[in-house]
Amino acid sequence: MTAKTYAIRTFGCQMNEHDSERIAGLLEADGLVPALDADSADVVVLNTCCIRENADNKLYGTLGHLKTAKEERPGLEIIVSGCLAQNDREELQRRAGHVDVILGTHNVHRAVELLHQSRETGPVLEIWDEALEEAESFPSALAVRREIDYSAWVSIQIGCDNTCTYCIVPAVRGRELSRPFGELVAEVERLAADGVHEITLLGQNVNSYGRDLTLARREAVDAASDDALIAGSQWAADDSRRIRPLFADLLSAVSAVDGIERVRFTSPHPKDLRPETIVSMAENDAVCNHLHLPLQSGSDSILTAMHRGYTAERYLEKLAAARAGIEDLAVSTDIIVGFPGETDDDFERTLAVAAEAEFDLAYTFIFSPRDGTVAATYADRFVDPAIVSARFKQLHTVTERSALAKHRARIGRVEEVVVEGVSKRNDQMLSSRTRQNKLLHFASATALRAGTRASVLVTDAGAHYLAGELVEILAAPRHRIRIPVSAG
Ligand code: SAH
Ligand code: SF4
Ligand code: F3S
Repeated sequence: MTAKTYAIRTFGCQMNEHDSERIAGLLEADGLVPALDADSADVVVLNTCCIRENADNKLYGTLGHLKTAKEERPGLEIIVSGCLAQNDREELQRRAGHVDVILGTHNVHRAVELLHQSRETGPVLEIWDEALEEAESFPSALAVRREIDYSAWVSIQIGCDNTCTYCIVPAVRGRELSRPFGELVAEVERLAADGVHEITLLGQNVNSYGRDLTLARREAVDAASDDALIAGSQWAADDSRRIRPLFADLLSAVSAVDGIERVRFTSPHPKDLRPETIVSMAENDAVCNHLHLPLQSGSDSILTAMHRGYTAERYLEKLAAARAGIEDLAVSTDIIVGFPGETDDDFERTLAVAAEAEFDLAYTFIFSPRDGTVAATYADRFVDPAIVSARFKQLHTVTERSALAKHRARIGRVEEVVVEGVSKRNDQMLSSRTRQNKLLHFASATALRAGTRASVLVTDAGAHYLAGELVEILAAPRHRIRIPVSAG
């Protein structure tokens, strides 16, 4: 009998990418294998996002195509998971009667059970209002099918306790929960033993990692688990210091794990970026020289209306401290254009701060009102779309100029890279990633496996890439190649 196949389409951020790996792990444990061609898959998973309006539109478009596919192939099973499912359950149910399973952000671990249930009972919808305070809540904690063998995501925290007025994430991902310190370090050790040499720590606000690991919660965990796994037990014992681990402690601990060469993390919130984190980044060679520090706006009155908890000046001070402390630091950011009430003057400030910050990369977004957020109620202050569009273009010009200047400045340098694979644009070239998280394309006479570390001389640059020539191969990857043993 040939095995059933699956395909997953992921929308949204790294949290969702990582949840998708978790769903893939569950499906494979159930005997499914990845489909070589997504259009022929027996089980299709759409892991959704609702951060901005176009994310919704894309999903409903894809669901429309799948409806036709299911009419032609009634055996096709469809699972919809993720943030939009969490947020929009009724609408989704109304518009997508052909979906077999709808699940939310807090019960990802139930995907396969629900699929089995739907085979017995017909379409199933299960959304939990809150996460369990248990290992199942953390996508890294159980079997995952990693997309890349040498690199792994590790979710250190789920949810978000901030109150940015434009943002739907706290509503769909729930309150902040940190994964116990000892468990995280043990997880990274396991990954390293499996050949992983790069990890990315994931959280909506990684700097506040540990904030919820209060004594009360620790005691609750204590009753249920092994001493070694108790969240930050070493800090509880050390009264002279503090009662919880900081993100900086975690960064140092995972960087010290044997075999881990690169540590990345996303995202830190500027208001919580502490000097300890900068020190940890500077002192631990494994931590990559890249900081994603979302600015959102350069205007203090807009930052206040957004509830961001910092001023433009404070942001620039933190950035300067990070650049002073960490050698050769690349900085990326997120900026929203057209937040309700944004005036020409506010926008000019954003342009000025973006120019001063000299970002290597900026993700720019047009404000999108999300039902249930505070900013969605500011309809009287919404900015004319034509003005927003003109501002968006202007900001894009500035951030592209900045990115190009930063990339050109690297011509002539030798970068340490990790090979990602054959370039998507030119199959004669390999694509790789520098420690600064930049894409570097280079030619190589020998085929190098993904995960190979090499040094490459940068000879050319664009706003979003570097190009260069191989200097030397530094190390072969340690991971094994996985070949599925099931038929099909
Ligand atoms: N927790 C992360 C951000 C997650 S959302 C952080 O705080 O850094 C990623 C980005 O989407 C945000 O940084 C913001 O720039 C953008 N974004 C979020 N809500 C938005 C909205 N309603 N409209 C436009 N952009 C939005
Ligand atoms: Fe949203 Fe703000 Fe939380 Fe980021 S920190 S997820 S922008 S509420
Ligand atoms: Fe989207 Fe959810 Fe991430 S709304 S951006 S997938 S946390």
